[in-house]
Amino acid sequence: MKMHLDEKIWLTISFGIIMIFMFFTGYQAFALDMAPPSNKEIIDPQKVDQTAPFDKPGVNKIGENEYEVIMTLQAFSFNPGNFEVPAGSTVHFTLTSKDVVHGFEVAGTNLNAMVMPGHIQKITQKFNKPGTYLVLCNEYCGAGHQAMSTTITVK
Ligand code: CUA
Repeated sequence: MKMHLDEKIWLTISFGIIMIFMFFTGYQAFALDMAPPSNKEIIDPQKVDQTAPFDKPGVNKIGENEYEVIMTLQAFSFNPGNFEVPAGSTVHFTLTSKDVVHGFEVAGTNLNAMVMPGHIQKITQKFNKPGTYLVLCNEYCGAGHQAMSTTITVK
């Protein structure tokens, strides 16, 4: 195959760019451990209320400016809902669903998780800015899906 010099140059540049991007993606994933957060703990979705820590859903202070939120999601509510944490707190969420797949999205933050029955979802967020944060379910979960929301108040 006869190739024009310009074609060779552009092919080399394009291939080089792809290799550079792949290198950086690989470096971030493996060397810097920047993979998306994931958690593989599983529980019996029929026995959420009897399984620790979900037998006691709530907000617990676990350190200086550090809180743990044990939350169950079910059609069409978050338990606990409408809770408060002080500004500057780091909040560790431990979530599971009691029925179908729900979403846990906190508007104005990077928090966005899929919460599946039988799986324990863990996600951490620092809340610096005071305000009322809207928590939404963003996975279609039934007739009341659009009403499934709560708030986190940071003050
Ligand atoms: Cu829960 Cu949509």
